[in-house]
Amino acid sequence: MSDFTWKPDGYLEMIRADIPRYAELQEQAIAAIPFAPQRVLELGMGTGETTRRLIEAYPDSWVIGLDSSPDMVFRAREMYDDVQLARIEDPLPDGPWDLVISVLSVNDLSDEQKQALFRRVKDHSRALVIGDAFEPGELDKVVEWCGGEISWEAEGLAVVRAVY
Ligand SMILES: C[S@@+](CC[C@H](N)C(=O)[O-])C[C@H]1O[C@@H](n2cnc3c(N)ncnc32)[C@H](O)[C@@H]1O
Repeated sequence: MSDFTWKPDGYLEMIRADIPRYAELQEQAIAAIPFAPQRVLELGMGTGETTRRLIEAYPDSWVIGLDSSPDMVFRAREMYDDVQLARIEDPLPDGPWDLVISVLSVNDLSDEQKQALFRRVKDHSRALVIGDAFEPGELDKVVEWCGGEISWEAEGLAVVRAVY
């Protein structure tokens, strides 16, 4: 994992400038959810952009988020009750989950960490949705490791969905 610590102030402006199709990536991640989920775990919740859209689409869902940046956690807690300061590499909060979702948050993990994460998710969740920016070759590995399929792809961005 990189040493960079994400900050909430100016985050949305920065990420939209960096990833012009950010809103579309978020929309496509929500569109990839395979069924109405109740218990959801979000990895790398940031300011809660994905959670906001998920709750809008599925008002009966309950999202628990985690993030390794204390500032992001403080900001997300202003909107959502259950946001934990934790690293994706650490033991995940107790499942089982209907859905584990993560947007732009798993790519700093090493290949081994990604594989270990997907094994844990497969054991504890009925579905996985990952939206991220992928280097050439990286997307195919993620699809294989999580046992999923690409549900959307554009300009280096992709959404991968797995149903277990
Ligand atoms: C680019 S932001 C994405 C935030 C949000 N998911 C979104 O789509 O706007 C990456 C977020 O993941 C968090 N993050 C990165 N690596 C992490 C890790 N290993 N464990 C937990 N959170 C992590 C960062 O602190 C940051 O809030």
